[in-house]
Amino acid sequence: MAARKTLTRLSQQHLLGIEPLSVEDIELVLATAEKYQTRPEASGRGETRPVPRLDLLRGKTLVLAFYEPSTRTRLSFEMAAQRLSMDVVNLALEASSVQKGESLLDTVKTLAAMRPDALVIRHPGSGVPHFLARHTTVPILNAGDGVHEHPTQALLDALTIRDHKRRLDNLKVAILGDILHSRVARSNLHLLSKFGARIALAGPPPLVPKGLEKLAPGVTVCRRLEEALEGADVVMMLRVQLERQREPLFASPREYARHYCLTPERLARARPDAIVMHPGPFLRGIDIAGEVADSERSVIPQQVANGVAVRMALLELLTGAHP
Ligand code: CP
Repeated sequence: MAARKTLTRLSQQHLLGIEPLSVEDIELVLATAEKYQTRPEASGRGETRPVPRLDLLRGKTLVLAFYEPSTRTRLSFEMAAQRLSMDVVNLALEASSVQKGESLLDTVKTLAAMRPDALVIRHPGSGVPHFLARHTTVPILNAGDGVHEHPTQALLDALTIRDHKRRLDNLKVAILGDILHSRVARSNLHLLSKFGARIALAGPPPLVPKGLEKLAPGVTVCRRLEEALEGADVVMMLRVQLERQREPLFASPREYARHYCLTPERLARARPDAIVMHPGPFLRGIDIAGEVADSERSVIPQQVANGVAVRMALLELLTGAHP
């Protein structure tokens, strides 16, 4: 493999997805995030560090515009900004002029006219951040667009995998569940494939879109969950996104769980040192058994912690504060 360049700047003005990023861009984000990690002990790298409180982005302002519900992404962006002394303004959708019929583009142009330093957007429309980026110079960070991409999730997942496995290449990663509606799966496919991981996908046939093998190199679609789990180093479960189903795509949550819930018995097919991941929110007993989610194999809390570190890194890099 050719030697990688070390970047000091991202090649992109916005974070719209993982697909446009180079391996060097991703390495830069992960290296920057490492200095903000508060839980390196999770991977055996020493003591818990104090929560960072830095002046790096004092005087700068972040706007959050969430057109879909969120706990982890919205709050961790807020915390990331606050830990860097950045001011945060939330667009309260239900109390905004969106309710009077103001269009998305006019809303974003209005926000941009107030001269924030970055804008985080989550929207049900796939491609919305890309569309907005054509109309503003304010750096846009995609916090999830429809079923397309969730790049900050894939970056925090990569940091978590690397904490535990020390690498992203030469790994088998099983991504399981509702792949059809998962922007997390798409962003992870792009990222893991860029680093040479092997990715095994499985889920109920109506929830696994055709042609995924062509989306990125190293991707295999398995007929059964058990096949995808065999020898996996990393098991990434996905939530069943009932809210995105226009019509029922399986008989019942109970029936789904019978075949696709990650139980201790199914997990036994993965490597003994396999880690279990879930972007959250997870449905106990439907996409993951409670005893697996709460087990020592689960790195779900570390994913959440790394979410703040990755978002701090992105705010530093995209607002030009990176040294
Ligand atoms: N993982 C994730 O995007 O969670 P939220 O919907 O709570 O932000």
